[in-house]
Amino acid sequence: MAKGGKKVLVIHGSPRKEGNTDILLREIVKGIKGENKEVELREIYLRELHLLPCQECRVCNRSGRCIIKDDMQELSTELREADYIILGSPIFFYTVTTYVKAMVDRGQVFWVRKYLWKQSLNWQTKKERKGWFVSVGATRGKKLFEGAILTVKYFFDALDISYEGDLLVRGVEAKGDILNYPEVLSKAYELGKKIGFLLQKD
Ligand SMILES: Cc1cc2nc3c(=O)[nH]c(=O)nc-3n(C[C@H](O)[C@H](O)[C@H](O)COP(=O)(O)O)c2cc1C
Repeated sequence: MAKGGKKVLVIHGSPRKEGNTDILLREIVKGIKGENKEVELREIYLRELHLLPCQECRVCNRSGRCIIKDDMQELSTELREADYIILGSPIFFYTVTTYVKAMVDRGQVFWVRKYLWKQSLNWQTKKERKGWFVSVGATRGKKLFEGAILTVKYFFDALDISYEGDLLVRGVEAKGDILNYPEVLSKAYELGKKIGFLLQKD
């Protein structure tokens, strides 16, 4: 375990196995482990979970809990306990994938607790939690990542996680295209090393 028992949660949000997002996230993981051998690191593949969409029943406003029984309960524990979160999603129609959006919307419970109940997640621990966003898209437009970044920033905010930065890659489309860009893979590895270093410092 890392110093002080730090936990890192890596969330794979693409439906495509061994796709560009998976590859980038794995480079980051390699970098983290290269810098910090003791880290407690958990990788979650949203495509393997059963996550239903938010029903907007509003029960969580009163109970602070979600009535839907699926894999979100376990995932919520991981989201609550992680010190650092690295969330990866390719761009689908200018935002995150449905897998990621399902998790984000079910995070309404966190939003309710923070903004309706005024009880933010770290109110007792005062833990400084950090998050990074990793994304890829096929096109090259200036605004390609804007929608997704906003969604992720507001999700992190509900979780009391500061948005520390991102790795955003334009112009990759086919499965594994990213492997043709060794400089991007190095960037991912370096980001992982930076995160591994920060873990030891925090
Ligand atoms: C349903 C769907 C929607 C997409 N929408 C966009 C888009 O809005 N902009 C874009 O640049 N690429 C878009 N793409 C392309 C993916 O972002 C791109 O292929 C990416 O490399 C996939 O990453 P992955 O291999 O990690 O799944 C879309 C792909 C799919 C399947």
